[in-house]
Amino acid sequence: MTLEQQLRDLAQEAVRDIAANENLESLEELRLKFIGRNGAITTILRGLGQLAGDERKRVGQVANEVKDEIQSAHDQRKRSLDEAALTARLSLEKIDVTLPGTRLELGHIHPLTQVTEEIISIFYGMGFTVADGPEVETDFYNFDALNTPQDHPARDEQDTFYTNVRPDVLLRSQTSTVQVRVMANSKPPLRVISPGRVYRNEEINARKFPLFHQVEGLLVDKDVTFGQLKGTLNAFIRELFGKPLKTRFRPDFFPFTEPSAELDSQCPFCEGSGCRTCGGRGWLELLGCGMVDPNVLTGAGIDPEEWSGFAFGMGIERLAMLKFGINDIRHFYNNDLRFLRQF
Ligand code: DAH
Repeated sequence: MTLEQQLRDLAQEAVRDIAANENLESLEELRLKFIGRNGAITTILRGLGQLAGDERKRVGQVANEVKDEIQSAHDQRKRSLDEAALTARLSLEKIDVTLPGTRLELGHIHPLTQVTEEIISIFYGMGFTVADGPEVETDFYNFDALNTPQDHPARDEQDTFYTNVRPDVLLRSQTSTVQVRVMANSKPPLRVISPGRVYRNEEINARKFPLFHQVEGLLVDKDVTFGQLKGTLNAFIRELFGKPLKTRFRPDFFPFTEPSAELDSQCPFCEGSGCRTCGGRGWLELLGCGMVDPNVLTGAGIDPEEWSGFAFGMGIERLAMLKFGINDIRHFYNNDLRFLRQF
């Protein structure tokens, strides 16, 4: 068989194989087999040297034609395989917009925030507004300005965390600090509550945690009476527990109020007969309160001869625990969904 004939046969075979080929990888193999550097055409052309000049030229030409023919068969096949692959991919990756989506589960408000918002809304109803203050405080606002000078024994009950910024910079142990700031920055009459985070250097147990929340209340006006304080807090307790409960004001001591009292309410669960929540006593200790000490007013630039006021402060965790019947304060901070989902 002449070289020319061999080349033509090869072309036929190549074009047939290429047309029948079904995937890109073996198509490349075919290309290499026929027109690659070590492919069949190269092998045939090795015999070229034995031919006479004219003949060699002609066969050379045929070889080039055959190469082009195979190359273009290859290119065409490759284009249609590429296209088919793309079409297949597109049809696989088609987005079905009718499929239901994956929903993000919505959470809900933390029980402490719920109770805080409820407290705020009850006092809003009585004309109080919310005042804010810093959690990192000076001992002046946390103690001195609240009539608790350096060596006052009442400081012991509120040991907190000090910073190395300055020896007098601490994490506030009570939201009463905001009283002083409000009085110093605005003119009476005043009616504010200030909810917020407070800190105490305390061992952790079921009832105590080094971080907790309080709401402070302050009212300053002309001729404020203890009766008004009682009325305000009785209304608050009624709203918070959703029913009228007996209350009692037990004399107590706070440096910044005089007289001071602890407010107990009848236990909302047993209504006084004694149960587990109230430890059989029938009463729950809820908050501290009293008439603003004249020293505190004076210190904040308010004349106690002209103005008087009452104040109160409560722990939000404690109220939330009573309201929801929670027996361990640590539940609030563990972020355990089995707990949180119950509220
Ligand atoms: N700050 C007090 C505490 O942390 C609570 C308190 C008691 C606030 C009596 C008051 C108050 O405003 O009059 O124990």
